[in-house]
Amino acid sequence: MSSSIKISDVDRIYTDTDGKAVQALKDVDLDIRAGEFISLIGPSGCGKTTLLRLIAGLDKPQAGSLYIDGTKISGTEPERGYVFQQGSLFPWLDVEHNIAYGLRARGLLRQKKANVKEYISMVGLEGFEKSYPHQISGGMAQRVAIARALINEPKALLLDEPMGALDSFTRADLQDKLLELWKEKGTTMILVTHDIDEAIYLSDRIIIMTPRPGKISHVIDVDLPRPRHRGGAEFLALRREILELFELAQAQPQPEYTI
Ligand SMILES: Nc1ncnc2c1ncn2[C@@H]1O[C@H](COP(=O)(O)OP(=O)(O)OP(=O)(O)O)[C@@H](O)[C@H]1O
Ligand SMILES: [Mg+2]
Repeated sequence: MSSSIKISDVDRIYTDTDGKAVQALKDVDLDIRAGEFISLIGPSGCGKTTLLRLIAGLDKPQAGSLYIDGTKISGTEPERGYVFQQGSLFPWLDVEHNIAYGLRARGLLRQKKANVKEYISMVGLEGFEKSYPHQISGGMAQRVAIARALINEPKALLLDEPMGALDSFTRADLQDKLLELWKEKGTTMILVTHDIDEAIYLSDRIIIMTPRPGKISHVIDVDLPRPRHRGGAEFLALRREILELFELAQAQPQPEYTI
C-alpha cells in the first residue's frame, strides 16, 4: 500500500528569537507518485526537514497546501511514518518493545504480535530483541527506528537523514535493506540525505533544494536499472551532473575590483 503526495505552492516562514522572519520554504510545488522513491538533497538550511515535517503533519504552512491521496494533510497519522536523524529510540525499552511501541499505543499489539517478529527479522535483528538501545550499534539502532516506523504499515515513510551518522559499510548495508523493504511493501519513500551517491543509488527522482529562501531548484529523474552500480559510467555521469548543479547553486557573485 502506498500514497501519493501533492505539495502545492507551499511557504513556511519562521520567526527567529530576534523576531526576524526566516523564509524556510518558498513556492514549493511537487507531486510524488504512489510508491515512488524520492530523495531530497541540498545544503544545510535549505528547508529539507521543514518540508518533511509539513508532509508528516507535524507543522503547518503559512501558504499553500499538502495533500495525501487527495486529502489535505492536517495532522500526524500512523499511515505516515517518520524516522528521525538519530537518537529517537526510547532508552528504557528494549529492541522488541521499541519496535512494538506503535502497535501497543494503538491497542493492536495482541492482534498483530506476529508482526513484531516479522519486522525484527526483516531488519536483521533476531537475537537482539532483549537488548537496550545503549547495548546496540548506531546502525542497529537506525534499523530499529526504521522497523518501528514500518510496523505501523505506513503508506509513506519519511526519513530524515537516517544514515547520516553511519560509516560507509553500515550505510551501504542499510541502503540495501531499505530497498528490499521498499520492493516488498511498495511504500512511498521520501528520504532526506546529504549524500549524492546515496540519492542516486536509491531514488526514482532526486529533488535538489537551494537555501534562502528554501526552494526546489532541480528535479532529476534517475533512469538507471536496479541494482545500481556505484562505479558504473552512467552513475558517475549523473553524479557529476548533480555536483555541477550544486556548484552553480552555491556560486557567489564575484566581487569587482578597481585597481
Ligand atoms: N523552529 C525554527 N525557528 C526558526 N527558524 C527555523 C526553525 N526551524 C528551522 N528554521 C530555519 O529554517 C531554515 C530551514 O531549516 P531546516 O531545518 O528545514 O533545514 P535543513 O535543510 O533540514 O538543514 P540541515 O541539512 O542542516 O538539516 C533554516 O534557515 C533554519 O535556521
Ligand atoms: Mg534537517
